[in-house]
Amino acid sequence: MATGSIDDQLLSLSSTHKSVTWRSPSNIAIVKYWGKHGIQLPRNPSVSFTLDAAHTDTTVSFVEKAIKNNEVSIDFYFEGAPNEVFADKITSFLEGLDDEFSFLRDYEFKIESSNSFPHSSGIASSASAMSALALCLGSIEKILTGWPTNSTDFLDKASHIARLGSGSAARSVYPKVAIWGTHADIEGSKDLQAIPFDSELHDSFKGFHDDILIVSADEKSVSSRAGHALMEGNPYAPVRYEQANRNMIATLEALKTGDILAFGKILEEEAMTLHALMMCSDPSYILMKAGTLAVIDKVRAFRAETSLPLYFTLDAGPNVHLLYPDEVADQIWPFIERELVPHCVDGKVIRDRVGSGPRLMS
Ligand code: PMV
Repeated sequence: MATGSIDDQLLSLSSTHKSVTWRSPSNIAIVKYWGKHGIQLPRNPSVSFTLDAAHTDTTVSFVEKAIKNNEVSIDFYFEGAPNEVFADKITSFLEGLDDEFSFLRDYEFKIESSNSFPHSSGIASSASAMSALALCLGSIEKILTGWPTNSTDFLDKASHIARLGSGSAARSVYPKVAIWGTHADIEGSKDLQAIPFDSELHDSFKGFHDDILIVSADEKSVSSRAGHALMEGNPYAPVRYEQANRNMIATLEALKTGDILAFGKILEEEAMTLHALMMCSDPSYILMKAGTLAVIDKVRAFRAETSLPLYFTLDAGPNVHLLYPDEVADQIWPFIERELVPHCVDGKVIRDRVGSGPRLMS
């Protein structure tokens, strides 16, 4: 595994390499991206914690085609087995990237991907998978052309490419905290890629826990893609986008100053708003399960009783992310284990933390 900064990792890539492996993490949004337009452009800005334990390892090996043709040629293996469904999706994704990478039709690629979390755990893998693939493609560009020569250009492009695969993946390439989407009052923020925020993060958040409770591992009844699309007709959408813009400023302030109370309030408001938007779209749908609500009730009661800073958030699914500072982990984990883990499928919990971003492994 290459160690050191991303700059050092880039330097370790030379023209003799014929394959690259990246480990890239998932992320959990504090202010949620929900609603998009154009080519994966967000309707509102979002901010997330980069995770650590929930990650994807992707290796891309490449050999120059003996006989040139104009096709994108890939073999795709998921968890060690050939996977045609994923192969087709990745092929169409790569076919759309000619303007970004000129080498894609000149090589044969073998792509091997595996997740640290079980496939059937209900954890969305698109953020870690698409960011890992984007980082591999960027590294191959570096190997073949020598560009880029610095980590800023490398990560800018990786975030941009990851976004084209899955919006939230744009944020996974940066350590600890990343912002994605234009906000008039956030310098450097843009729709085309995420930007890092970790240098401004208060120490209180650096060791934050995120225990992911797997309340249901069933396939979702409505995909994220369909969910984003339904925001276009949602009568509350304009109000939601204003709220997200306000919550961005308040969240960044809390992350800078270490205001855990303000952070927790917005975290939960965002989760409830996301799911309320689903319930009042046309057609209406519900992704929370009975276990999701039971966990939320218990978290609120626990907080009222103990005043300990334990907060929940949700993705577009039934699983509950429980966020809390490391300093109180000893007081909080026994409660989670005793009262909340029984709501999980086979007692499944992914004990995650705020993480230091992707790593070049090969
Ligand atoms: O990246 P997508 O298209 O899977 O959308 C993700 C949306 C949420 O997870 C609900 C929110 C977010 O910002 O990650």
